[in-house]
Amino acid sequence: MKLADYKTTLSFTNGQPSLEMPVYNGSIGPDVIDIRKLYSQTGMFTYDPGFLSTASCQSTITFIDGDKGELLYRGYPIEQLATNCDFMETCHLLLYGELPNARDKHDFTQTVMHHTMVHEQMQFFLRGFRRDAHPMAVLTGLVGALSAFYHDSTDINNPEHREVAAIRLIAKMPTLVAMAYKYGVGQPFLYPQNNLSYAGNFLRMMFGTPCEEYKVNPVLERAIDRIFTLHADHEQNASTSTVRLCGSSGTNPFAAISAGVACLWGPAHGGANEACLYMLENIQANGGIAKVGEFMEQVKDKNSNVKLMGFGHRVYKNYDPRAKLMQETCNEVLKELGLGNDPLFKLAKALEKIALEDDYFVSRKLYPNVDFYSGIVQRAIGIPVNLFTGIFALARTVGWVAQLNEMISDPEYKIGRPRQMFTGSVKRDVPPMNKR
Ligand code: SDX
Repeated sequence: MKLADYKTTLSFTNGQPSLEMPVYNGSIGPDVIDIRKLYSQTGMFTYDPGFLSTASCQSTITFIDGDKGELLYRGYPIEQLATNCDFMETCHLLLYGELPNARDKHDFTQTVMHHTMVHEQMQFFLRGFRRDAHPMAVLTGLVGALSAFYHDSTDINNPEHREVAAIRLIAKMPTLVAMAYKYGVGQPFLYPQNNLSYAGNFLRMMFGTPCEEYKVNPVLERAIDRIFTLHADHEQNASTSTVRLCGSSGTNPFAAISAGVACLWGPAHGGANEACLYMLENIQANGGIAKVGEFMEQVKDKNSNVKLMGFGHRVYKNYDPRAKLMQETCNEVLKELGLGNDPLFKLAKALEKIALEDDYFVSRKLYPNVDFYSGIVQRAIGIPVNLFTGIFALARTVGWVAQLNEMISDPEYKIGRPRQMFTGSVKRDVPPMNKR
């Protein structure tokens, strides 16, 4: 970042001396006011719950223009990456800053595919869970447990450790997600098959059985690969900020990523695709498209606490570009599987049409986000609803790791330690028991 050609001055109406603060501009996006000296020079904090106006770091990885509905990974528009590249190329781009040439892509993919197995002891962790445990509870546990197996790569300040931990996490997430699924349906785990693509290997571990050869459907393989690319990274969202804050203590990368998995689970964040599918199924069960108007009235009634899941976004105040691409993939998969008349897809499109014309949503700039269509396409592929967020976590692992490594390799980084505005009781003495 570089110093902007202007500064800002904070002045007070109570005669306190004003404070001059530098302004920086990045390569694109809003300028930032450097407030790092604010507390030491004024004894005051800024106040920004939810960080609506706060840049927590500088980054070179992902940029979102919320007004234009634009998403760039290392400068490349998501539309071009989702159309002209695959997830392995996207992982290389996010981790190292550049798209790989054919040779680098081959080598990177080989490296990832040769780290797909997990330690044989890992399978015993699953036995402690009930078979109907939510896969995100299982995944949070399994990812954290990885730190017990890789003592050779837990020093986050060692660049070699960071590199091998990054590859291990990207490579093993599909295996762990598939194990969580198989455990839930009572089927045997399938070992990874390294001659398959990253996406094809995942589909086989999910839907293959030891009883017969599993044939990867190229349309589904491409769809799941694109779903991974669309979910790979997204600036300083809640789970990425969790990973950065967790990793800033110097804990190992596996523990930091497991914190990200836990945060992503929430329905306001990565859990929205699961919540959105349940919402669509609910409306469908209670009258379908005929009942959409009634449902929308509920959404607009503040007291109902009903949200249109898969809609709205902290940053996008225009259409989420990932939602458009996801809708395209939805169309392709439903056509391939002969589900062109999928009632939920029709219902989703009806809801979207109404929302894009209804002033409640238009005035609040609420558009479909990545979660609105992702559930329908995953359900069509045969992924159970409660595993949708697990797929999101699988895909977002590369973004979390890239952001974590960017933070740790920044010589300026410090442990994150936000302050607060205290509004509780002032100091008082403990009364004796008979006086309480
Ligand atoms: C992801 O940050 C990221 O980048 C996340 C993500 C990523 O890739 O990492 O993009 C992934 O998490 C996508 C978002 C998935 N979540 C959902 O689809 C859940 C439904 N959406 C909402 O919960 C909400 O839109 C958020 C959480 C996504 C954004 O919330 P904000 O920015 O805090 O917005 P807000 O709650 O302040 O809403 C502004 C207004 C409010 O109404 P008013 O008080 O102004 O009258 O819009 C309303 C909200 O009530 N509103 C909605 C709504 N979302 C916002 N009303 C109905 N339905 C919704 N979905």
